[in-house]
Amino acid sequence: RARIVFGSGNEQARLVFVGEGPGAEEDEQGLPFVGRAGQLLTQMIDGTAKKEGIPLQRKDVYICNVVKCRPPGNRTPQPDEMETCGQFLVRQLLAIRPKAICLLGATAVKALLDRKEGVTKLRGNWYRWREIPVMVTYHPSYLLRPYNQAAKREAWEDLKKVLHYVYD
Ligand code: URA
Repeated sequence: RARIVFGSGNEQARLVFVGEGPGAEEDEQGLPFVGRAGQLLTQMIDGTAKKEGIPLQRKDVYICNVVKCRPPGNRTPQPDEMETCGQFLVRQLLAIRPKAICLLGATAVKALLDRKEGVTKLRGNWYRWREIPVMVTYHPSYLLRPYNQAAKREAWEDLKKVLHYVYD
């Protein structure tokens, strides 16, 4: 990896998004969610907020990942990597103390929730991590695959829920 990708956005944010780990573009720029999945995430945040009349943009939330370094070839992070980087994630979340956390995909779920069900089952509902309400939704990379287009609508619904909870 070229860079450590720690996180970006407002460190006093009321809402934190947690993804999996940096991809190639993120590694190059040192910023999370700046590649194709990141552009979709930006669209989802900005678009949902605008549509719902919530004065919020991507820069107002905080965005980070479970692992801070790009796994070789974008493979899924391994348990020891999640364990090591997970300590930084925990400190980030405790420092920010957001009103809610939105987990993007299975790796983020694995890192913060003790749940065996998959994202399809868990999404759209509230859980808790150390008292903080947690919403689970699909990872934007999953939504980019052509055969998962139906899931996009669900992800927008999840985001709507979380934005209203945090900013109403
Ligand atoms: N996917 C992630 O999980 N995180 C990023 O930062 C980019 C893509």
